[in-house]
Amino acid sequence: MSKTFRAALAGAYIALLGGTTGALAEEWPTRLEGHGGPVKSVVISADGKSVLSASFDYAAILWAIADGDAKIVHRLIGHEAAVNDARFVNGTFAVSVSDDGSIALWNLESGEMASRIDEGGDKMLSVAVNEDGSRAIAASWDHNAYLYAVEEGRLSRIAKLGGHRGNVNSVEFLPEGKGVLTASYDGGIRLFNAASGELEREIYAHGWGINVIKAMPNGKTVLFGATDGAVGLVSIAAGEEVKVLPPHERPVLSLALSKDGTKAASGGGDGKIRFFSTLDWALEEEFENPYGPVWGIAITPDNTLVLYAGLDDHVKAWQVSPRKPFEPVDNDFPRRFQISETDDPGELQFARKCSVCHTLKPDDANRAGPTLYRLFGRKAGSLAGYPYSKALKEANFIWTEKTVSDLFDHGPDVVTPGSKMPIQRLKDETARDALVAFLKRATDPANGAANKKEGAQ
Ligand code: HEC
Repeated sequence: MSKTFRAALAGAYIALLGGTTGALAEEWPTRLEGHGGPVKSVVISADGKSVLSASFDYAAILWAIADGDAKIVHRLIGHEAAVNDARFVNGTFAVSVSDDGSIALWNLESGEMASRIDEGGDKMLSVAVNEDGSRAIAASWDHNAYLYAVEEGRLSRIAKLGGHRGNVNSVEFLPEGKGVLTASYDGGIRLFNAASGELEREIYAHGWGINVIKAMPNGKTVLFGATDGAVGLVSIAAGEEVKVLPPHERPVLSLALSKDGTKAASGGGDGKIRFFSTLDWALEEEFENPYGPVWGIAITPDNTLVLYAGLDDHVKAWQVSPRKPFEPVDNDFPRRFQISETDDPGELQFARKCSVCHTLKPDDANRAGPTLYRLFGRKAGSLAGYPYSKALKEANFIWTEKTVSDLFDHGPDVVTPGSKMPIQRLKDETARDALVAFLKRATDPANGAANKKEGAQ
């Protein structure tokens, strides 16, 4: 996309924020296409006209919804690993958290990263923002949650919220500054003071880890989803489960609440999505996403559609009201994960271990890593337009059969310390040789092998 076109889109996006009605069901596309990897979370802006999605491809995307179309306003690029969650702060900012252990603040007008705080390594899985956009909280796998002030386009840490005995998976603000809730793999839901970040008490202990929570707008109850598939509503004052909802057969991965608080949805590792009325907690609709886990879920402000995200590179919309039969779209995602029909062990290695982040074609398809097309003979970190880490940019060697082999013999953390490629090794020399031989062939434009097999896209 050209810079001017992008600027015009950003302008249109800001202009859109004036309205309040939000996009109607018929104005939503059935898919939001543009990520280069599985999508971890999806949220809709309060005005219902924009969407933020976060992906395994190391980016978040700001979308503008209009006329049955989802336009990419900005790709928010700067995290150094999968982006797990992103939230609107107000009209002009958003926050995101990543496997790289950092929280970032983005200016939605420019699409630039305005501020970032790295808490030192462990994954951050979820983030929440309070009503007036002055505070953000992030859940970390280092067993803490982190509370931040969002002021004048900058993030600053206010407090570290400790006391958990496991990874913190999910965080929420209660309305009107009444507190902060955290949910942990240790099975606990805890209440902290929203100003000081001090622990007030553990409000609930579930026998299994809790993956996700959503505070109800009344500030009195919290919905939770757990690793054992349980979905329930807990009273914050009484500290007990007041409503048990139908369990998922696999861990619960996502929960959503509608803007008016009258609808809720749960998504699980079993691919099921359930849609409830929160007035009586009746199950209104249910369907199964045939393509695996539901990592992200959102309800449009008019309560007509559910947006959901998972292994696919796109976000999909499902119309719940009036109910439209759910028809799984013919889908090309599994290709990348399926082992291609080949006897070439090098190609198998590539399909399994690399293809989710790299293409072999000139186009990188927005994957997390640069295309490996024409890799051999190229200086490390030298592809124009790809946002390499400092480590790769400053690396001073050429990719050859030997250096590629060394990369997986010793691992990227040793060969290119500071690289944003995940740590991986291929110690078996025969397997490594097969991978390198395959790459040599498939990345060579003269060969054309790159375009032949689907598994090696
Ligand atoms: C989870 C995503 C991910 C996976 C899986 C992955 N990579 Fe990468 N790879 C990256 C990223 C991101 C970079 C850019 C690193 C940087 O800038 O520090 C990269 C960089 C590279 C580079 C350097 C390219 C250049 O232009 O200098 C090579 C070579 C490479 N990867 C090969 C592989 C191979 C082969 C596999 C499979 C065995 C693989 N990668 C698996 C994400 C991934």
